[in-house]
Order: sequence, then structure tokens, then C-alpha cells
Amino acid sequence: MDKNIDILKEKLYRENNLGHDELKALIDTNMKSLDEEIFNLARQTKEQYYGKAVYFRGLMEFSNYCRNNCYYCGIRKGNLNIRRYRLTAKDILDSCKIGHRLGFRTFVLQSGDDPYFTDDKIVEIVDMIKNRYPDAAVTLSIGERDYASYRRFWEAGTDRYLLRHETANKAHYNRLHPESMSFQRRKKCLYKLKDIGFQVGAGFMVGSPYQTVDNMVEDLLFLKELEPHMVGIGPFIPHKDTVFKDKEGGDVNITLLMLALVRLLLPKVLLPSTTALGTIDPLGREKGLMAGANVVMPNLSPKNFRADYSLYDNKIATGLEAAEGIDDLRERIESMGLKADMSRGDHVDM
Ligand code: 5AD
Repeated sequence: MDKNIDILKEKLYRENNLGHDELKALIDTNMKSLDEEIFNLARQTKEQYYGKAVYFRGLMEFSNYCRNNCYYCGIRKGNLNIRRYRLTAKDILDSCKIGHRLGFRTFVLQSGDDPYFTDDKIVEIVDMIKNRYPDAAVTLSIGERDYASYRRFWEAGTDRYLLRHETANKAHYNRLHPESMSFQRRKKCLYKLKDIGFQVGAGFMVGSPYQTVDNMVEDLLFLKELEPHMVGIGPFIPHKDTVFKDKEGGDVNITLLMLALVRLLLPKVLLPSTTALGTIDPLGREKGLMAGANVVMPNLSPKNFRADYSLYDNKIATGLEAAEGIDDLRERIESMGLKADMSRGDHVDM
């Protein structure tokens, strides 16, 4: 058995591909006892394309209004217990100003699926940022929209778009979301975004309720097929005001394993070591970087709003996680033998 696993690892490292049963065997073995070698292979793979660089992105959570009611998410429409906020265009620009001065050259604008921010408003905001900071990349992460809307965002100069697929199994998708949402539509959005020319990010949660090992394999194979430029993976963490408040959270080691497998399947991918990972383990972010991740996303939102962007309980939003902590974060990264990199950090093929 062990010998077979070694052969699988070797094949994955050399060919950047494995079939369903092979991936499943690899995950099953690692769930019994974690094999550090897979992290080393993932790290080596990352270094072939990105060297020691860890890219910094400035994250702005500009609205926590959301028209969706995802069972896992704290900013779901049905949560009446949170204070809703929207940043103004001026607030967003002010944050960009601070971020740019700190050295950030990527701004990630994330929000709930908030219809208040019409296509016109988004275009206006992107336009302003691009005019003022032509040397910075702009990433949008604002949910599902039409082809025509995405096209307008692209024409306004948006460089990248993040939209996690959440789970690639339709039946599983339907257990995490109300009937008004569809995996088919989400998947279509991802293909539209790729077609238009964005650097596209997909991704999923590890340990979301009802997720099986087969589901994770399906996520990995879906990502292999989609070939996104970025992949966001973090553990599921329950939120007290959601349908899943009593469900168990995702496991650190399985999350790390998924990061490593994504790196090995998609060698050139930009892979963040996520806030959720840093939330469930004080060394989570560092461990993610050792498992093949190469991006960190400190929070640039104005401090007084951060607590309200509560996707899950105990979300970290200060210290190393925040823009004010970037010197510390930089130091920690450098002390791991990695290189903090504030440049745009585009995908190597773009
Ligand atoms: N735990 C972990 N991640 C979550 N997200 C939403 N709710 C949770 C939660 N409870 C993730 C989703 C979404 C991203 C912005 O945050 O994957 O796409």
C-alpha cells in the first residue's frame, strides 16, 4: 500500500494529474496519518514558477449586504443579527490610498451579492481606482452577474475576479444553498469570466457540512478542468446565526492537504493562505505557505467595519491579518525563508 502511495505522489508531482480513485486513495491515507512529503513536493512545485515570493493583496470588504441565503455564511440575507454596512466610493478610495502608500499593488474588492452596487456603480469605482492607481491590479469578488455585466467590469479595467464554486457536487451544493441558487449557474459564471479574459479564482470550503472525501476529489477534478488562475480554500467555520451553527468545523490538516493537492494539480496557480485557516490555527497562515500557498490578503477595510464582515465566528481582523500588521507579517514571512512581494503578482501566464 505504502509503495502504491509513493507511486501516486511521484506521478502527481511529475504529471500534475491523477484520476478520481487515485486522488481518493491519497486523501484517505493522509487522513489516517499526515505525510509531510506531499507538502514538500507542493512547495517545490510552487518554487519552480514563483520562487520564494509571497504576494500581498489588500482586501476591502466594502459591503456586507447580501441577497443570498447560503446556509453556512454569516452575512446571509436571513441573518437579522448583524449590522449591515456599505462603504462609499470615497471610503473605498481612501482605503486604496492607504494601501497604495503601504505598497499594495493589488486591491481586492469583496462584498456580499449586493444589488445596490449596480454595474454602473461598480464600473465607476473600478474606473476611479484604475485612474488614480494605474500600476495596481483590481480584483472583484461580488458574486454572480450576467455576461454583459462581467464584460463591462472587464472593459473598465478589472483584472481579476474571484467566485468560489463552493462545492463541485450538485447534490452537495443543494444541501449548502437554498433552492434559489444553482451550481449550474455558478459554474457558468466561472466559464464566462474565463472567456472574457479575467484572471479567475474559484475555490471551496474544507469540511463544509455533508462534504465527503469523494466531494473533495470532485472539487479537485473540477478545478483541474476549469484551470482557474487562483484558488481560494479555507476550512468551514460555523457561524452562530446560520443554519449550520451546530455543525463541526473543517480540519486544519485536511485544509493543508487540499492546498498541496491543488498546487500539485495546478502548478502555476496563485493560492492564498486564507484568513479562515489563520482563524482556526494561530500558525495556520504559515502552515499554508509551507504547503504550497503563495498569497496573503491583509485586510484594508476601515477598522470600524471589519467585525461586521462576519462570514464565520471569531474571524481574525486585526494584528497580522490587518494592513496595520503588515510589517510583522512581512517579518514572519522572511523568517520562514520566503520573500514578501508587494508587486501586482500576476499569474505567470498573464
Ligand atoms: N466558514 C468558512 N468560509 C466561509 N465562507 C462563507 N461562510 C463561511 C464559513 N462559515 C467563504 C465562502 C465564500 C467566501 C467569501 O467565504 O467560501 O465564497
